[in-house]
Amino acid sequence: MKLAVIGGGSTYTPELADGLGRLAPQVTELVLVDPDEARLAAVGPVSARIMRAHGHQAAVRWTSDAEDGIDGAAAVLIQLRVGGQAARDRDETWPLDFCCIGQETTGAGGLAKALRTVPLVLEIAELARRRAAPGAWLIDFTNPVGIVTRALLDAGHRAVGLCNVAIGLQRYFASLLGVAPESVALDHVGLNHLTWERAVRVDGTDLLPGLLEARSAEIAAHVDSAEPVLTAHGFVPSYYLRYYYEHDAEVAAQRKAGTRAAAVAAIEAELLRMYADPALDTKPALLGERGGAYYSEAAVALLASLLGDAGDVQVVNVRNAGTFGFLADEAVIEVPAVIGSAGPVPVPAAPLPPLLRGLVGHVSAYEELALDAALQGGRARVAEALLAHPLIGQHELAEKMTDRLIAENARFLSWA
Ligand code: G6P
Ligand code: MN
Ligand code: MN
Repeated sequence: MKLAVIGGGSTYTPELADGLGRLAPQVTELVLVDPDEARLAAVGPVSARIMRAHGHQAAVRWTSDAEDGIDGAAAVLIQLRVGGQAARDRDETWPLDFCCIGQETTGAGGLAKALRTVPLVLEIAELARRRAAPGAWLIDFTNPVGIVTRALLDAGHRAVGLCNVAIGLQRYFASLLGVAPESVALDHVGLNHLTWERAVRVDGTDLLPGLLEARSAEIAAHVDSAEPVLTAHGFVPSYYLRYYYEHDAEVAAQRKAGTRAAAVAAIEAELLRMYADPALDTKPALLGERGGAYYSEAAVALLASLLGDAGDVQVVNVRNAGTFGFLADEAVIEVPAVIGSAGPVPVPAAPLPPLLRGLVGHVSAYEELALDAALQGGRARVAEALLAHPLIGQHELAEKMTDRLIAENARFLSWA
């Protein structure tokens, strides 16, 4: 099968090549698509070398021509970043002027990213509809994953949204318990980058209460949370919950520190230098300093189950479709789902307790408005989405942030 990777010039791609090389014998052709030819010239060859070093036979090539890249593909992986780390740096910076967190997917920065990203992803998806193999799957890693996945599904595409948070925690709990990652089943609930682990099951038994009893400090540190958040409520929040539960402390810390975008840009420059070495045929350890650890394994597992009709359970971004009664059926949630050739079907989940239900409902409504703003544009829609966000929520603040967000992103917005 042919696999196309949109945003294939990403410095993350060698991680994907490593996963494909180890675990995806069904891929016969890998095409990396990126508008940045200089990036492709470094990332393409090293990705080919890594696959070959694993003994993988696939033809690996790279192109700036999206049509050529997508033509006949059985799956299209979308992992692009409009405006690169420079745009992310702005998302992480200007909201601080309003005493709000600066983050690439949460809060006002996340809305800016959605506005820049959704139209381009939909364009690529239309190209895939015309040129990819019939029934091809779109796998979206592009943030904000919840909003982008909903955009794709609303437009009628065969799409699944993917994030590495759940697979990372599955592996983390497996290492704490001394068991194989596949034997750990998470009760993972919420929206993309707004999730909690309610149970960590091995052979049907929930081992989370015991883990919290014995190792709560260590687990809290792993997810950047205050320990009482875990012990008082019996769940493990993802590290994105820090932007809610510790919002003001996080704003204060961000004001003192450099941005994550700047740190990532420095890592990327070094990675590109390393990739240019024709002797390099393994994924460099430096790549482990990026947040996307295990993303290749999540992608390979999802591809294998979609194409092979496996019927196993993986955590994905999928339509709510009645899973949580208080959310619209069309909302996109991040939960364990049974993965077969007809697409993911959420595993029935216990109702969310009020503490989770309030925030999930609030952010899901924001996501609906954010998507509307991304699709239709216009100042009023941006202002409404910001007003709906639980981390903003005040009229005057939302109005001021709207003007700033549009000014900061005008060159990316066709309507601004
Ligand atoms: C995690 C998230 C991704 C996000 C990444 C950022 O992996 O799940 O959605 O893109 O962190 O990592 P970075 O190294 O770019 O800060
Ligand atoms: Mn993610
Ligand atoms: Mn413009």
